[in-house]
Amino acid sequence: MSKKPTDSSGISFTALYTGAVWHRHGLSDDALATEQGRWLYHLMSPFETASKAAIGGNIRTFLLQRHRIIDHLIAEAVVKNGVDQVLEIACGLSPRGIRLREKHPHLKMVEADLPDMATRKAARLLATGRLGENHQVTPMDILADSGNHALEAVIARTFDNTKPIVVVTEGLASYFSLDVITEFWQRLARALANRPGSVYLSESYLMPRQPLLRHSLKTLGGLLGTMTRSQVSFHFEDDQQAQDHFQACGFPSVRVYNPSEFYGLLPIPESRHDPMVRVVSARV
Ligand SMILES: C[S@@+](CC[C@H](N)C(=O)[O-])C[C@H]1O[C@@H](n2cnc3c(N)ncnc32)[C@H](O)[C@@H]1O
Repeated sequence: MSKKPTDSSGISFTALYTGAVWHRHGLSDDALATEQGRWLYHLMSPFETASKAAIGGNIRTFLLQRHRIIDHLIAEAVVKNGVDQVLEIACGLSPRGIRLREKHPHLKMVEADLPDMATRKAARLLATGRLGENHQVTPMDILADSGNHALEAVIARTFDNTKPIVVVTEGLASYFSLDVITEFWQRLARALANRPGSVYLSESYLMPRQPLLRHSLKTLGGLLGTMTRSQVSFHFEDDQQAQDHFQACGFPSVRVYNPSEFYGLLPIPESRHDPMVRVVSARV
């Protein structure tokens, strides 16, 4: 059992990099672009180019794969299944809320993150006149067991609790050990259980089988863990293990998507080998 951390704010700066990637790829709004993000983007470019050449994929490849596939699955829930409430936990500087509200103005969009990041995001959205009853930013901490920042409190105070919700976490789960994130997943499944039709979308990274790649990724994960003061983890060995685990957490219906299923259908980059990222859709 790993000890549950109490403060995961060391992870927050990574949102600057992902924010810059969304912006560079035409997915974001100038209001969410940051100078630090631009700087990190340049700093990472040689490494990204080298990994693309060496292994046929890089961080930007899997970021764009996961982001577009999650968008696609949200759109499916909204358009096909009529869900009209979305909670994006660990929103960082993700432009998803802006894009979703532009495309589906009837949606209730709640973005949530640790207090500092939530304040920063709210200020940027407010400056563009985008915040209001149907587009909110709220402080939340997935590690909080009680109080205003706890998952259950956020859901109860921000949504119509008779209707289903799409809940997203992108770029969050892998910063925690499996024990710690499992506790959050179980709580989420319980919180959604009386809102049938709700769906949780997230990504997961599989440990590659190839020994050299496995070793390099473990080393990189360790480095990122030190930089973010977190327990960067690869939770599952394969799709089946991921599916079984989410079902055991309390989501009866789970589908694990491989980005390759969307090649040619969504505008996502293709990996040379089996992509290392998966998108998990877990329903109640
Ligand atoms: C890699 S960034 C991802 C941001 C955004 N989802 C994206 O894909 O661009 C990780 C985010 O997790 C947030 N975070 C870290 N610990 C958290 C916690 N305990 N509860 C909620 N959010 C957290 C950070 O503040 C940061 O915004």
